[in-house]
Parts: sequence; C-alpha cells; structure tokens
Amino acid sequence: MSFISEFFKNKSEVGAVAPSSKFLGKKMYGGIDFSEVNCIVEFGPGTGVFTKEILKRLKPSACMIIFETNPSFYEKLKQDIDDPRALILNESAEKIGEYLKNQNQEKADFIISSLPLTVFPKELKENILKGAVDNLSKDGQYIQFQYSLNAHKLLKENFSSVKLAFSLINMPPAFVYKCSL
Ligand SMILES: C[S@@+](CC[C@H](N)C(=O)[O-])C[C@H]1O[C@@H](n2cnc3c(N)ncnc32)[C@H](O)[C@@H]1O
Repeated sequence: MSFISEFFKNKSEVGAVAPSSKFLGKKMYGGIDFSEVNCIVEFGPGTGVFTKEILKRLKPSACMIIFETNPSFYEKLKQDIDDPRALILNESAEKIGEYLKNQNQEKADFIISSLPLTVFPKELKENILKGAVDNLSKDGQYIQFQYSLNAHKLLKENFSSVKLAFSLINMPPAFVYKCSL
C-alpha cells in the first residue's frame, strides 16, 4: 500500500502525498512531558509515523485513542501496531467524545492532529474542532500541523492561545499549531 496511491484515491481525505518526516514529528510531540500523560488522542495517523513514536514514549498505564477514516491506513495500523495501550478506530475524529467515554476517560491530555483541515467542508472541520475543545483537559494542548497558514484564523476562534512553529524538513514544509484552551 503506498501513501501516494491513497492520496490519488481521495485527495480531500488524505491531504498529503507522503508520510510526515521525523523532524515534523518532533515538533508535534517533542515538547510533551509523557510522564504526565494519561490519555492522548491522535486524529489522522495515516501509516502511523507519529503513532509509533508516541507509543515508544507513553507510560505503561496510559492510553492512546487513534481515529483514522481511510480503510487501507486503518488496516495497516492494525497490522503494524500490537499494543494494548492503543485503541485504533476506523472512525472519524468527530467521535472523540463518544470514544473517550467508552474508555472511561474524562478528557484527553493531548490531541495530535494531522487532519487536512484546509480541504475539509466547513461543517466537518467545525464539528471536529468543537469535539476537540469539549474533550481536551484544561491544561492540555491540541497540536495540529498544516502546510499553510489557512487554519490559523479558525484555530484562534476555537482556542484562547495558538502558538506557531515551523518545520522546514518535511515534504512540503509545515506549520505546527499548538493550541490551548
Ligand atoms: C495528511 S495525512 C497525515 C498522515 C500522518 N499523520 C502523517 O503525518 O504522515 C491525514 C490523515 O487524516 C486521515 N483523515 C482524514 N479525515 C479524517 C477524519 N475525519 N477522521 C480521522 N482521520 C481522518 C486521512 O485518511 C489521513 O490518513
């Protein structure tokens, strides 16, 4: 299964032609103190480049809830990741509240999102961000990468603080938004 073929099957779902680099990954999860994390959520793991690194850092008692809508990526994740802390779902990120509740988790400490917000319909991105805001712990962060600054305004409307970083070593280079309530 190749990332680029999934992109050509559904551009507005996949939103990228290649998996992200480790450099971008470090900008996404590198600042997290994993000793304090009980529950982390990932939106749009694709082939799992961030997922596998996050699981290496996550403490044994913590959980990770992973939302991936693309069936081929979902199957690959299920094949590659055999970890009792990881709940891999072939579901949309909009369902975060439902699955946190199922797992007896009140809130997510962090939400790591690779979703291509820019190409999503308005209603879908609004629902996803509302779900993120409603289900993020008060000291938590929603961390999102995008290839442009298009999502900046929308993220600022939903979060009280949005800090920007940039990763040049990625194809294409990407902006990382770190959003707090
Ligand atoms: C830009 S790719 C990022 C993949 C990977 N995280 C990376 O950085 O290489 C976006 C991913 O989001 C997934 N996706 C799109 N819409 C989604 C949704 N509503 N809920 C969950 N995942 C979704 C796509 O299938 C794709 O795997």
